[in-house]
Amino acid sequence: MKISILTLFPDMFTGVFQQSILNSAQQKGIVEYDVINFREFSKDKHSKVDDYPYGGGGGMVLTPQPIFDAVEATRKRMDSQKPSRVILLCPQGERYNQKKAEELAQEDHLVLICGHYEGYDERIREYLVTDEVSIGDYVLTGGEIGAMVIADSVTRLLPGTLGNETSAVTDSYSTGLLEYPHYTRPAKFKDFEVPEILLSGHHANIEEWRRQQALKRTVERRPDLLDMIDLTKEDEKYLQQ
Ligand code: ADE
Repeated sequence: MKISILTLFPDMFTGVFQQSILNSAQQKGIVEYDVINFREFSKDKHSKVDDYPYGGGGGMVLTPQPIFDAVEATRKRMDSQKPSRVILLCPQGERYNQKKAEELAQEDHLVLICGHYEGYDERIREYLVTDEVSIGDYVLTGGEIGAMVIADSVTRLLPGTLGNETSAVTDSYSTGLLEYPHYTRPAKFKDFEVPEILLSGHHANIEEWRRQQALKRTVERRPDLLDMIDLTKEDEKYLQQ
């Protein structure tokens, strides 16, 4: 997969893509990040990328030309037949979640457009963008952090990014429930003990306990998630207790 990021602040991405799992995914050839400063595509003699809003009012608006041209250039460099997903980061967008990450992980090319401080000319939304995404109900100074969130959450879903050990953890996320509690050595730390069942070596009982703990945690903290999950008969029984 290729993830192209259009931004006026490319340096914000240097650390993020050069560390840990995102870095190793690139080294393994699973993903390529292409951070593009769309100011370089401006045809304005001062490389301007924004202008005053028609109709007056405060603030500036990102002009369509540099963004349209930057998207076209990055698309041309792709040899995939599949159309690119062009995603605009903005607070008005559809709220991002794991399901959306899974959907985007099927694509060959994502283009993430990051505005900063300013609004976007509406024609970018209407004629260029395929998806508008918000990473949560709060307003950030720009789309860059949202683009990092998408790049990270999609990359970890690509086959080969995570080693076997971590994919097991992923599986429990993919149940749609919050994770069950984890413990490691020592079995007793200060006066605090690890639940006995985890020391029992009885795998079926441990699996059942973990499922119940995940259900309990989800009911307590995020009951809204339960509506989106297919619960088993055993789950229902446990919840009715
Ligand atoms: N830009 C500003 N706020 C944002 C948000 N919540 N999500 C995505 N992009 C944004």
